[in-house]
Amino acid sequence: MTHQETLQKIVEVFTEPSVDYSQLSKAIEQLRALYLNLSKVDLNNDENRKDIHSSNGKAIGTTWAALCVDDMVRTKKFISGVYQAVQKLLGEHPEKNVHILYAGTGPFATLVSPLTAIFSSDQLQFTFLELNSESYQKVQQVVQQLGIGNYVRRIVQCDATTYQIPVDEQVDILLSETMQYALKGEQQVPIIYNLLPQIDNEVILIPEVIELQLAGVNAAQNESRMMNGSEEPYYHILGSFFKLDIASVRAFYAKQKHLPVNHKFLDRNFRIPEVVQTDYPELYVFTRLCVYQNIEILPYESGLTIPYKLADLNGKRKRTTQMQVAYALGENPGIRFSFS
Ligand SMILES: C[S@@+](CC[C@H](N)C(=O)[O-])C[C@H]1O[C@@H](n2cnc3c(N)ncnc32)[C@H](O)[C@@H]1O
Repeated sequence: MTHQETLQKIVEVFTEPSVDYSQLSKAIEQLRALYLNLSKVDLNNDENRKDIHSSNGKAIGTTWAALCVDDMVRTKKFISGVYQAVQKLLGEHPEKNVHILYAGTGPFATLVSPLTAIFSSDQLQFTFLELNSESYQKVQQVVQQLGIGNYVRRIVQCDATTYQIPVDEQVDILLSETMQYALKGEQQVPIIYNLLPQIDNEVILIPEVIELQLAGVNAAQNESRMMNGSEEPYYHILGSFFKLDIASVRAFYAKQKHLPVNHKFLDRNFRIPEVVQTDYPELYVFTRLCVYQNIEILPYESGLTIPYKLADLNGKRKRTTQMQVAYALGENPGIRFSFS
């Protein structure tokens, strides 16, 4: 079987609307083996395990970026989302040459390489941005080995938080998965805040919406959900305090010219109701992740949507009724919170 035939079979599994875990796990294994074989990334090399730290947060090392492929539902749903977005654009304009700007490709350009098995280079073009020099070299090798150079306009080693898109270039899809759960530590937000405002035309952002929500959790009910599939509600959403989507970025720049490096987004004040104090006393941040349209990654389906624990109201905080929560950028981007 050629590499493209293997990729085609894998894409068929990824673009199925439902998730068949045994098929999916085989497809992921095949994809990982193919990428590792083509790139010869040494997962055990200490240098490849080093993250790069900057004033905007970290960029994960080549080994960790390579291993992202193993986050099965993430990989499936992102590739499926990009596929649907390309299909939509081609459906509206069949002669279109869809251009994807992919920030943070890792060593494999994992989220788009398989699509070359089903779209032609007349239909699909890429620009790849990658900060890490090993990942940058490896992604070039993968492109060359797969023979997909005709899809790639350019591969740039750069910091996507400051990269300038060439003037007059149309970008149809802006894609980045440079995040962890609760948008901790990595650079998704400054990357999108840098690239999106440079795109004047209508653009599809993938993921389309990332929203951070404060929730109270009932640990016992969560455990029985995991152990025996109980459908009793295990969390109570208090509300959202940060959203990354096209509208929120555009609204920000309508009021402000620049995004300061250490910017703290608006604090949201939450009143903690009695029901949370008594029935859902563990406070978590849930990451709502809509990849594209109806493709959502649900809590616990992926490493990106594991709820992040902030505090436990059992015991000493029992009388706490107000909480302030915000998302902040900087060397260690993440959640800032306090009680009052
Ligand atoms: C979480 S990995 C994801 C890799 C791949 N896109 C995937 O989905 O499997 C994020 C990648 O983005 C790169 N990255 C992080 N911050 C970056 C930045 N500011 N500019 C360019 N690349 C960045 C990292 O080096 C890493 O390779």
